[in-house]
Amino acid sequence: MTDTSPTPKLRSRAWFDNPANIDMTSLYLERYLNFGISLEELRSGRPIIGIAQTGSDLSPCNRHHLVLAERVRDGIREMGGVPLEFPVHPIQETGKRPTAGLDRNLSYLALVEVLYGYPLDGVVLTIGCDKTTPACLMAAATVNIPAIALSVGPMLNGWHKGERTGSGTIVWKARELLAAGEIDEAGFIKLVASSAPSTGYCNTMGTATTMNSLAEALGMSLPGNAAIPAPYRDRQESAYWTGRRIVEMVHEDLKPSDILTRDAFLNAIVVNSAIGGSTNAPIHLAAIARHIGAELSLDDWQDYGHKVPLMVNLQPAGEYLGEDYYRAGGVPAVVAELMKQGLIREDAITANGKSIGDNCRDATIEDGNVIKPFDAPLKEEAGFIVLRGNLFDSAIMKTSVISPEFRDRYLSNPEDPEAFEGPAVVFDGPEDYHHRIDDPALGITDRTLLFMRGAGPIGYPGAAEVVNMRPPAYLIREGVHALPCVGDGRQSGTSGSPSILNASPEAAAMGGLALLRTGDRVRIDLRKGTVDVQLPEAELMERRAALTEAGGYPYPKSQTPWQEMQRAVVGQMETGAILEGAEKYQRIAQT
Ligand code: FES
Ligand code: MG
Repeated sequence: MTDTSPTPKLRSRAWFDNPANIDMTSLYLERYLNFGISLEELRSGRPIIGIAQTGSDLSPCNRHHLVLAERVRDGIREMGGVPLEFPVHPIQETGKRPTAGLDRNLSYLALVEVLYGYPLDGVVLTIGCDKTTPACLMAAATVNIPAIALSVGPMLNGWHKGERTGSGTIVWKARELLAAGEIDEAGFIKLVASSAPSTGYCNTMGTATTMNSLAEALGMSLPGNAAIPAPYRDRQESAYWTGRRIVEMVHEDLKPSDILTRDAFLNAIVVNSAIGGSTNAPIHLAAIARHIGAELSLDDWQDYGHKVPLMVNLQPAGEYLGEDYYRAGGVPAVVAELMKQGLIREDAITANGKSIGDNCRDATIEDGNVIKPFDAPLKEEAGFIVLRGNLFDSAIMKTSVISPEFRDRYLSNPEDPEAFEGPAVVFDGPEDYHHRIDDPALGITDRTLLFMRGAGPIGYPGAAEVVNMRPPAYLIREGVHALPCVGDGRQSGTSGSPSILNASPEAAAMGGLALLRTGDRVRIDLRKGTVDVQLPEAELMERRAALTEAGGYPYPKSQTPWQEMQRAVVGQMETGAILEGAEKYQRIAQT
């Protein structure tokens, strides 16, 4: 056991050891004693460590944290801390209606209140399923008490008939097999279920693996933490060492503001490209950066991330899954390879008190099929480009997932390389799209551009993952597998479609997409980074005036109090879709 001498700055002392207010102190003390903590523990100046528990029966991706928390407690106690575990508002990506995106800010808000209002000197953030990671990091950033993230880890690899089946990604394939009559409904369910063989989060490079990897790249977890599969022994060990480490962090007063610097965010951007990370990452990193007060813009993603190649060969972009990622070396191996190119800001401090450079310098790639070397990657230029124009101020696109078929059809005109123009067909929300996509009356051809609007943080509260739209069935039968898609919604990290998405401002905030009509011609130029409807400014102003007069872009009414409250204050995706009034509350922890 190391030093347990009272650290004078412990904020929990204001509750448990405050001679100036012995009345309240006695109340606080007696109520925390009745589940087995002794008076001696609470009054001896030991750090009180919260375990922010995101696992529950409603959150199966994170449920293994209920088991891991026992090892976290062991680590905390061995270092002289007192663990207090408490629940975090659940966010389950695939089960929450209308969309899990709605709950990220709610979970954030509630966690801020807990971290601020209770006697906690530090906190272990149990991260995993997509939105749980940003929600926890955003809250830790706002309150700014010492905090360390523990990933629950990915599921084991899924297998079916000798082939890897990845969570999320397999659904796209299973749908095709079902449609082709090669499997029946029972076979469909069996195939999809095969991709989820154990506890843990999605084993593909979806938003969960992305955000857990980026939490590590940011320095908010122990090195190597992200990739360890949930059921592995090493995962239990990681939980134990995380518990030990948070107590030390409290004594060292190592806070999120020391770790979440601009350098850390730039490192995360570079790592995101190399791992083939989700298009949700720019939204979440913008949110975390704003809550800690670090400078970060959407342009940083193109400037620092676009040219970085894809090294990690995980589904959906590649072949492998979570267990393979871990065996190949995980995040440290990726960072070490990027360091050799001078792409990592090596001095950025991480949760273990060392720099990311010191943590990762000696890491090696253990399987070159799973993590490719920088100079023989899976794909070049794996990051995002930023697009702008008269339909929105910003949107992003992952150009590395453009298929040869797509490139041939739209981007190979020698007179006008990287650009194309066509008539728009506009859908107002995912339900409208599903009802009408196969209607021949829409006249969709392989020159048509599909637009999805009403799917942003306000329009479809929380922003739906719906911008990647399949073409009508009759075009698929002719061999057209993807049309250009543009929209103000998001896209699932498990899909590999080259959509232009996260458009800000959204139609519901009266962005230019609100003015678009089916039949308008739109020009997309990837070289210049522009998307423009081919209409004179005067026409757009007229349409805007008419729509404003009619009460603005219409969207479905709220179904719950939170939907209405969030809609009133939520920002756009370019700037993280945070609760705008919350940003001014920074580093609010009192000692
Ligand atoms: Fe929770 Fe994928 S649905 S991690
Ligand atoms: Mg998702």
